[in-house]
Amino acid sequence: MKKTDVHTPSAHVGRYAGKTFVLGVTGSIAAYKAVSLCRRLKAEGAQVHVVMTRAAERFVGPLTFEVISGNSVATGLFVSGNEMAHLNLAEIADAILVAPASAHCLGKMAHGLADDLLSTLVLAAECPLLLVPAMDGGMWDHPAVRENVRILRARGVCVMESDTGPLASGRIGKGRLPDEETILAAFSSALSPQKDFQGRRILVTAGPTQESLDPIRYISNRSTGKMGWAIAEVARDRGGDVVLIAGPTGLAPVTNVTWVPVVTSEEMHKAVTTRFADADILIMAAAVADFRPARKAPGKVAKGQGRFVLDLEPTPDILGDLAERRSGQIVVGFAAETGDLLARARRKLTGKNLDLIVANDVTEPGAGFGTETNRVTLLDRAGGCKALPLLSKRDVAHRILDAVRRLTTAGRPRP
Ligand SMILES: Cc1cc2nc3c(=O)[nH]c(=O)nc-3n(C[C@H](O)[C@H](O)[C@H](O)COP(=O)(O)O)c2cc1C
Repeated sequence: MKKTDVHTPSAHVGRYAGKTFVLGVTGSIAAYKAVSLCRRLKAEGAQVHVVMTRAAERFVGPLTFEVISGNSVATGLFVSGNEMAHLNLAEIADAILVAPASAHCLGKMAHGLADDLLSTLVLAAECPLLLVPAMDGGMWDHPAVRENVRILRARGVCVMESDTGPLASGRIGKGRLPDEETILAAFSSALSPQKDFQGRRILVTAGPTQESLDPIRYISNRSTGKMGWAIAEVARDRGGDVVLIAGPTGLAPVTNVTWVPVVTSEEMHKAVTTRFADADILIMAAAVADFRPARKAPGKVAKGQGRFVLDLEPTPDILGDLAERRSGQIVVGFAAETGDLLARARRKLTGKNLDLIVANDVTEPGAGFGTETNRVTLLDRAGGCKALPLLSKRDVAHRILDAVRRLTTAGRPRP
């Protein structure tokens, strides 16, 4: 008999590795959508414990969540042998996501009622809580529901706005569960209680550029955009108003971030220059081409003409150009090098008049293009030099923003 290969999934450093979440599911017709949310959180490395209300069990069977989450589903408050589930779950949860949150559940939470496991553990927990309402338009508009949402928000609870569209009743209106990406983005933001970039306009560049040689071919580099994406997400989560100017990467746009796709270094230059005056902080994580073909052939360069010599000209120096014309902005550059890292990074820092440079040796294992992790050194103008260990790109993004934060509070004019 032929042996079947057993593939074990390669270790994936998900953004939620090491995190434990409670996913509360209540009695809404949208309860089936929580299955997909559970799968997404689990795929990002989280431990997910699903807590269902009695009404939720009428819509989706607990077995589905048990299989998807890999954990038993808690449904009751008075379960022999598991009487302390509400306190235990409240203790281990890094965050609670209630999606969908019924009108009934919003009412109970607004008034501190605790008659089942979910409502009791929400009272006991101290971690971030995100409620994602879903209900019929008439219910959503009812003054009692509006008032409950107001009470919860005034208490600092994140209650998402519901979506407008076709409802289960067949009517069009407000009350739909927001789409999955919007919920996950809001959850990511709810997990960052630190909103130290609130009101700051942050311009981030990411990805490679492509420089055309003829209508078919281009020269580019190995950048995947993952580092810039992580910076944009983390800056958004910390309250920033983020614009992401990105070369071609194949990554999906970041939810709640203004997305400006570009292709060439010239387009990137134009896009950044146009928005720079309105920005407080510029973080150039893009791997902009240093050279481009001096001439673009109008038609395909045919094979069979012997050697082909490519004449390259330097592209505009975006960072140097913008750093020169800035009016109070913090400017952060990246130096992706293959050797002599710190000396080259320091030359770039001073030569281009940057505030901070993020230096990484792309030949190091786990660092550079396409990886989920990075190992960088942060150098600033005051001579500071901080080598960080191998971290997830999200954690690196947090450390870069921490350094930017220190620069904005350490004597530099606040943008
Ligand atoms: C078919 C059906 C669909 C329902 N959909 C919703 C809904 O989308 N949102 C909502 O707030 N209530 C909805 N309800 C009503 C709730 O299930 C009901 O208020 C229940 O008591 C909620 O309990 P829970 O908050 O403990 O889960 C629906 C009821 C039925 C029968």
